[in-house]
Amino acid sequence: SRTVERGADGVVTVGGVDVRTLAAEFGTPAYVMDEADFRARARAWRDAFGAGADVYYAGKAFLSKAVVRWLHEEGLNVDVCSSGELHVALAAGMPGERIALHGNNKSVGELEQAVKAGVGHIVVDSFQEIERLAAIADAQGVRQPVLIRITVGVEAHTHEFIATAHEDQKFGLSLSGGLAAEAVRRVLARPSLELRGIHSHIGSQIFDFAGFEVAARRVVGLLAEVRDEHGVELPEIDLGGGLGIAYTAEDDPREPAEIAASLTDIVRRECAAAELTPPRISVEPGRAIVGPTAFTLYEVGTVKALEGLRTYVSVDGGMSDNIRTALYDAEYSVALVSRTSAAEPMLARVVGKHCESGDIVVKDAFLPADLAPGDLIAVPATGAYCRSMASNYNHALKPPVLAVADGAARVIVRRETEEDLLRLDIG
Ligand code: LLP
Repeated sequence: SRTVERGADGVVTVGGVDVRTLAAEFGTPAYVMDEADFRARARAWRDAFGAGADVYYAGKAFLSKAVVRWLHEEGLNVDVCSSGELHVALAAGMPGERIALHGNNKSVGELEQAVKAGVGHIVVDSFQEIERLAAIADAQGVRQPVLIRITVGVEAHTHEFIATAHEDQKFGLSLSGGLAAEAVRRVLARPSLELRGIHSHIGSQIFDFAGFEVAARRVVGLLAEVRDEHGVELPEIDLGGGLGIAYTAEDDPREPAEIAASLTDIVRRECAAAELTPPRISVEPGRAIVGPTAFTLYEVGTVKALEGLRTYVSVDGGMSDNIRTALYDAEYSVALVSRTSAAEPMLARVVGKHCESGDIVVKDAFLPADLAPGDLIAVPATGAYCRSMASNYNHALKPPVLAVADGAARVIVRRETEEDLLRLDIG
């Protein structure tokens, strides 16, 4: 579904628009998002799970009003984890009942706003929060639907998963320690809360389904325990997000249809064995929807060849628009996109303009040896966790997000200006 193409002149177009035109019109650096690809990925998730399930796009990956409208139109819901994200989702017209609220330490204000907005469910994450939320719902005279976030003892990352001992973290209420069962008792005891189900999220950038499958089995196991202890069958489970995407050619991502089939099948089998009616399933993909849909367009500023080592290519952004390389040692690829080159490849490191040597965007990459100031280069797969984790380090101005579709580009989040920074600085 991607509309990124390279012409005979070596110039890359996206959605029918030439990157040189984008740079000239909107400046660099810029995040360039392929709207058709975003919509297609959102639809693929919705279609994979079908009418018997709900897809909540994880707004933390990237959230803006345009994106919320696309999600609304494509039949997805939104998962938010702060009042800021809630605000954007509501401002874009997402109905409250299609929003879910997350977080391990939501403030009283955030809980109040979410209840007032009539969010579809709130995922409770601690005993204190159960009490806080019950009181707030009570005061507003509503019965608030909730899920309980549990820790299933599985933590999954990239190519492996570990099914023991990963309970030493801040999220959720542990299954093995009995905290999850206690949370169920406490929520059921509060008339202003309606317990809809159980939530689990095991990690991010995962390729191996084994971790999801163990989690699904354990969540269904808890549903059976709840039925046995309380005589109620909870109608929903949420299995979180986490499906990995390709950052480099070595990554081999799985399709939403594959994970939907695998999870639906496991839940159906486990429920049959426990004599439970299968619950409605929801999932919360963020990266897998938005990650591949955008690239960052940079202009090369300086090129420094270090004899016998590598060539440092400095661009007009850096760790302020993509912290993932510095923070997680994340791998990215990069390509020259504004012209063709017959030059030999050289080992390059793409770095930013910030005042520290860890300011690396792409650690090791081959770029043509004739790369020169003024060339445009693109780093793919920066749609998730780049703009949303961007900072103003060195008073950098956060780049705009451009949406390109059908031969036209428009700004959906504008570039920051010095005035934006000074507006916050009241002297
Ligand atoms: N649901 C919950 C409860 C989550 O905590 C997350 C991500 C998601 C869904 C979405 O996960 P995804 O499908 O995007 O993997 N900043 C890190 C990723 C942190 C993920 C946090 N939680 C990164 O840049 O890799």
